[in-house]
Amino acid sequence: MQHINNYISEHKDRFINELMNLLRIPSISADPAYADDVHACAKVVESHLLKAGANNVEICPTPGYPIVYGEKIIDPSLPTVLVYGHYDVQPADPLELWESGPFEPVIKKTDIHPDGAIFARGACDDKGQMYMHVKAFELMMETNSLACNVKFMIEGEEEVGSDNLGDFVKANKKRLKCDAILISDTGIIANDTPSITTGLKGLSYVEVEVTGPNRDLHSGLYGGAVANPINILCEMIASLKEENNHISIPGFYDNVVELSTQEREDMARAPFSLDEYKKALDLSDIHGEEGFTTMERTGIRPTLDVNGIWGGYTGEGAKTVIASKAFAKISMRLVPNQTDEEITKLFENYFKSIAPKSVTVEVRPHHGGEPYVAPTDSPAYLAASAAMESTYGKKPVPVRSGGSIPIVALFEQELGVKSILMGFGLDSDAIHSPNEHYGIFNYLKGIETIPHFYTNFKAEFKG
Ligand code: BES
Ligand code: MN
Ligand code: MN
Repeated sequence: MQHINNYISEHKDRFINELMNLLRIPSISADPAYADDVHACAKVVESHLLKAGANNVEICPTPGYPIVYGEKIIDPSLPTVLVYGHYDVQPADPLELWESGPFEPVIKKTDIHPDGAIFARGACDDKGQMYMHVKAFELMMETNSLACNVKFMIEGEEEVGSDNLGDFVKANKKRLKCDAILISDTGIIANDTPSITTGLKGLSYVEVEVTGPNRDLHSGLYGGAVANPINILCEMIASLKEENNHISIPGFYDNVVELSTQEREDMARAPFSLDEYKKALDLSDIHGEEGFTTMERTGIRPTLDVNGIWGGYTGEGAKTVIASKAFAKISMRLVPNQTDEEITKLFENYFKSIAPKSVTVEVRPHHGGEPYVAPTDSPAYLAASAAMESTYGKKPVPVRSGGSIPIVALFEQELGVKSILMGFGLDSDAIHSPNEHYGIFNYLKGIETIPHFYTNFKAEFKG
């Protein structure tokens, strides 16, 4: 469709500049110090939706950060697409590892992005991907080619667990009524290998606290005679896994849906090079659950990882001390049909049961979420697949991701609608890490592909 490419080539510099301005707002939802910036970012998103031609644009307050809503209903008899994205970003630290300021976007060429990539926190996750939808909408409005009704729901708390979005969805079921939910907050395999995400993992996230003596002690006077909570915590963490990297929490795998041989064979057809995988991470070997491939480990098997661990003395020089307390943050990524609540409970029971009497243990659950799988034969999947085939010249492969977007399972539960995860990022884009970036190619390709989705979905959808 020529009008799409014409519009993009005429406006691409402005598309890039507008995104760079959006990236200058440090909308870090996790850190209260940035509260004003998160609110300011919502206002900017609101103004862009308005300018692009959306109606009923509104900043919907929540007890946390607001949800930006807008819509364009062109004909109630046409199918309606609900676009979801998030304008909040992860904290930027460790700051010293950034080559340029996380909120001072710059365009640099890389091996993987010869056309250049925008480096900034949120460039890929998710401002860049969310903004593609606003620009694709502008394009469709300006070229009179919008094929479906569209509703936008852009939230500001995804990176902290979408605590208030669930209530918003439950309270606004009528307003959010739709026939498909379209989300770009995931990735593709490579710029010459398009893919569509058909699965997301659930999440159980806990913080543990191990307490030994009631105060920090001299490690010579007391060492060897009382429990050192850091030593004990390490032993407890070590016993969460067996030698073959199975998770040893009793009952952990009870509800895990095993894939059939056929399904595993289908999965293995997605292109993957172990050598390139290792090379990209500077690893001489990989590590994971015995009996499963790397794609299976990330895509269909539940996992357990320590995300942070602390306690005792970590400053300059040596301090001889036995700390009173040790802490860790532990996440478990879940697959169908594990539930956050059940797994958190199993973890807590087991973790307390393996603690020696010489310490006390507290387990504090954080936000979590349920896993999600999408069919590959729905009208929305077929529309997305054909859209990518048109713009990449290749049929996208379905891929189950190791990442989580907990609200997607809730959308299905509350709205009865499946989400289509048509993301355009690359694993190497360093989301959540220093030097996050998003390829200009990917950004523009997304803007080009989205209008195809709307025309295809209109044709595929039969009510
Ligand atoms: N967009 C990501 C999730 C993602 C990225 C899924 C790439 C698949 C491929 C999202 O913003 C995210 O970071 N989710 C968190 C969970 C959330 C509860 C903090 C995650 O996966 O850790
Ligand atoms: Mn995201
Ligand atoms: Mn994220």
